[in-house]
Amino acid sequence: MTLDPNELSTQALYGYLSTAVAPRPIAFASTVDAEGRVNLSPFSYFNVFSTVPPILVFSPIRRGRDGSAKDTLNNVLAVPEVVINIVNHPMVEQMSLTSTEYATGVNEFVKGGFTPLPSEAVRPPRVAESPVSFECTVDRVIALGEGGGAGNLVIARVVRIHIDDTMLDAAGALDTRKLNLVARMGGNDYCHASPASLFEIPKPLRTLGMGVDQLPAHIRNSSVLTGNNLGRLGNVERLPTEDLVERIRSRPEVQRARRRGTEHLHQLAQDYLLEGKTEEALAILL
Ligand SMILES: Cc1cc2nc3c(=O)[nH]c(=O)nc-3n(C[C@H](O)[C@H](O)[C@H](O)COP(=O)(O)O)c2cc1C
Repeated sequence: MTLDPNELSTQALYGYLSTAVAPRPIAFASTVDAEGRVNLSPFSYFNVFSTVPPILVFSPIRRGRDGSAKDTLNNVLAVPEVVINIVNHPMVEQMSLTSTEYATGVNEFVKGGFTPLPSEAVRPPRVAESPVSFECTVDRVIALGEGGGAGNLVIARVVRIHIDDTMLDAAGALDTRKLNLVARMGGNDYCHASPASLFEIPKPLRTLGMGVDQLPAHIRNSSVLTGNNLGRLGNVERLPTEDLVERIRSRPEVQRARRRGTEHLHQLAQDYLLEGKTEEALAILL
């Protein structure tokens, strides 16, 4: 199906956008109003958009029912500061509770049972339970529309980073496997980036992968190899030498697979790919 967004209700549009553009990280934003009253709310229209300067952007949307502004938006317009706290699995239920539409002035640190810690460079406190917190000053707020559903880009410049030391690896870097981050999917679904759900892809930045287009047609058109298999093969810098191909061909398992036919040979290459032996897999296919 193909859709024209102009013909969709706000609710339907939200459903397609927020279910397809996922998983989304969650900015747990702490702000204060002009009187210093604290507010804490989650926003999954959120990401990092610049390293130097360090810029995070999130978007409080105008309410679909009446186009009214959320407290977080009013607060950053009044006091251009925010602490963006990162959300991980041990705090996800409490975080969800704080998204309740409590009356203006209600402190969601209290409602969610979170511990506020004073910030160093900005007025809003940070969340002690968060594995990482970014103190930010707000550079700009860009309204993307005026009615219900309209986003407001809050462009936040990081001025301090607080990291829970238990989230670091031996080299002092943040360890994805310790962070246990969560992300927002469509509807009520969340995603847990637990160690078991992670997988690695060798970065193609340091090498100049030859590209899928350079693979011989019988590999590209294989009925066994998947798009992921071809992507991995295309990341190899050049076709293996005749010498390597010869050596691989003499292996008994390769000879057996060849005798049984192309599909078996490609399945064997696929097994090699799963084990990370990309060049040998390519040699088998050749
Ligand atoms: C995980 C999660 C992500 C959310 N993301 C957004 C978002 O990106 N933009 C938005 O306007 N509301 C989002 N919401 C809803 C707000 O958190 C909710 O409207 C909240 O009450 C706003 O609080 P405030 O009026 O105190 O700012 C999200 C809620 C949850 C639970």
